[in-house]
Amino acid sequence: KENIYILGIESSCDDTSAAILCNNRILSNVVADQKIHAEYGGVVPELASRAHQQNIVPVVHQAIEKAGIKKEQLSAVAFTRGPGLMGSLLVGTSFAKSLAYGLDIPLIDVNHMQAHILAHFIDEDNHKKPPFPFLAMTISGGHTQIVKVTSHFNMEVLGETIDDAVGEAYDKSGKVLGLGYPAGPEIDRRAQIGNPKAFQFTKPKVDGLNFSFSGLKTNILYFVQREVKANPNFIEDNLNDICASIQYTIIGILMAKLKLAVKQTGINHIAIGGGVSANSGIRKALKDAEDKFGWTSYIPKFEYTTDNAAMIAIVGYLKYLERDFSGFDVMATARLKI
Ligand code: KG4
Ligand code: ZN
Repeated sequence: KENIYILGIESSCDDTSAAILCNNRILSNVVADQKIHAEYGGVVPELASRAHQQNIVPVVHQAIEKAGIKKEQLSAVAFTRGPGLMGSLLVGTSFAKSLAYGLDIPLIDVNHMQAHILAHFIDEDNHKKPPFPFLAMTISGGHTQIVKVTSHFNMEVLGETIDDAVGEAYDKSGKVLGLGYPAGPEIDRRAQIGNPKAFQFTKPKVDGLNFSFSGLKTNILYFVQREVKANPNFIEDNLNDICASIQYTIIGILMAKLKLAVKQTGINHIAIGGGVSANSGIRKALKDAEDKFGWTSYIPKFEYTTDNAAMIAIVGYLKYLERDFSGFDVMATARLKI
């Protein structure tokens, strides 16, 4: 049987990434992250698309070189069509079209949210793939979603955030505390040595499986402002405890929704993805749920959980097998549904 080589291209937010897959195994996965946004405390869309424009050719070139193949061997080009920042998506979309056209090979459009989930099907030693049906929870700086996955391309969104993403809750709380961007990893680090019960924050009241994090962010802001008024050193004196209490609240919210989703669907195979799945609190909570409730949890390798092109390429491969190709008039779509 002939090998299938897929080039995946991801440019939906602030990472320019290209990956080469041989069938369902990764040969290379190159990510150029954009340091420029750190000084603004968040992604600046206009700067992101400019950086993609600059990075895209070198990143694709590197991915092909690292994979040890020639571009003439490629079977298809897969790219992120959406959801994401329009200007950023346009760079990857236009580049993918041109390359597929030039090489005269199929073009495959990929939904970024499906890709976060299907990253679990990248063939890796020692990684178990979730069996269908399973629940996928995608948690990152841009997304918070619980999805019921019945087959590779049969997915149903059961709930999602109605305002901020969970990673934003981390990053914005970090900003209030004077931490650098993105603050998630540092809050996580400090949370592990702080007291999670030191301070109480309000949990949002959102029906069903939807999430809301903007109220929590405001709650933390007002709390810190009030305490700092009484004690100017409040943050320095209590930083680890504040971080632990924030993390305790956020993980509590995520786990409560997962429990409800398991109860509603009867499915207890849980696959997580997105940058926040690196969090020690969610990993521990899932481990506990395995012991306590008999769940099975699936966590991909870190480089496939944050935004990356390997996950775009695996979707490209699965679509290639079904001959599910795109027309060259396909358009980037900022608000693309699963
Ligand atoms: O998937 P990702 O790299 O990019 C987006 O698609 O957003 O996720 C980045 C997000 C940031 O909000 C970052 O603070 C958060 O993931 N993050 C974490 C941790 N590592 C990254 N949040 C909590 N704990 C962590 N260990
Ligand atoms: Zn993402």
